[in-house]
Amino acid sequence: MRIDIITVLPELLESPLNHSIIKRAKEKGIVEINIHNLRDYSINKHRQVDDYPFGGAAGMVIMIEPVYKAIEKLKSERNYDAIIYTTPDAPVYTQKIANQLSTLKNIIILCGHYKGIDQRIRENIITLEISIGDYVITGGELAAAIITDSIVRVMPGAISDETSALSDSFQDNLLAPPVYTRPSEFNGWKVPDILLSGNTKEIDKWTHEKSVEKTQKLRPDLLI
Ligand code: ADE
Repeated sequence: MRIDIITVLPELLESPLNHSIIKRAKEKGIVEINIHNLRDYSINKHRQVDDYPFGGAAGMVIMIEPVYKAIEKLKSERNYDAIIYTTPDAPVYTQKIANQLSTLKNIIILCGHYKGIDQRIRENIITLEISIGDYVITGGELAAAIITDSIVRVMPGAISDETSALSDSFQDNLLAPPVYTRPSEFNGWKVPDILLSGNTKEIDKWTHEKSVEKTQKLRPDLLI
């Protein structure tokens, strides 16, 4: 899979996409991630990519032309299955969307910034808009990093223990069960006996029950 991210702040994406599972997935050739600076497609020598909004609202708006030029260049080189825009005024991202995106070959993620992008880009170029939650962060870069991370971790081969991503919270609309490691007792706090029993069938049953219990308590909306 190839992920192209277009941003005005490439530096913000360097660290999150260069460690751990994503780093290894890149090294194994499972994913190729390319970061593009929108300012390289600016309309003038000042590397300007934004302008005042028509109608006098506050803040700056990303202009059509740099975005159009950046995306057209990428599209002239290969076909894209999705052109995503990160913005708080969009449907909220879920594990299901991450799973679906992980099956695609080439995607572009355009990071929102300032007060947003010219609406005509959203209507004519973007194919999928994503919010990472009902709150506002300073720019779309961290949202793009989150989306990229969630896509890559479910790609076959990205995690050495294949079952590990499948047992993540949300994969079956359940929160992940509690987990424990050594020592089996600390400060009088004990690991549940069942986990030490070696009876895998009973352990699986217990684990599932705990997931359901936890989901009922913390996120009952997932069970509807
Ligand atoms: N940019 C600012 N806030 C955001 C959010 N919640 N989701 C995606 N992009 C954003």
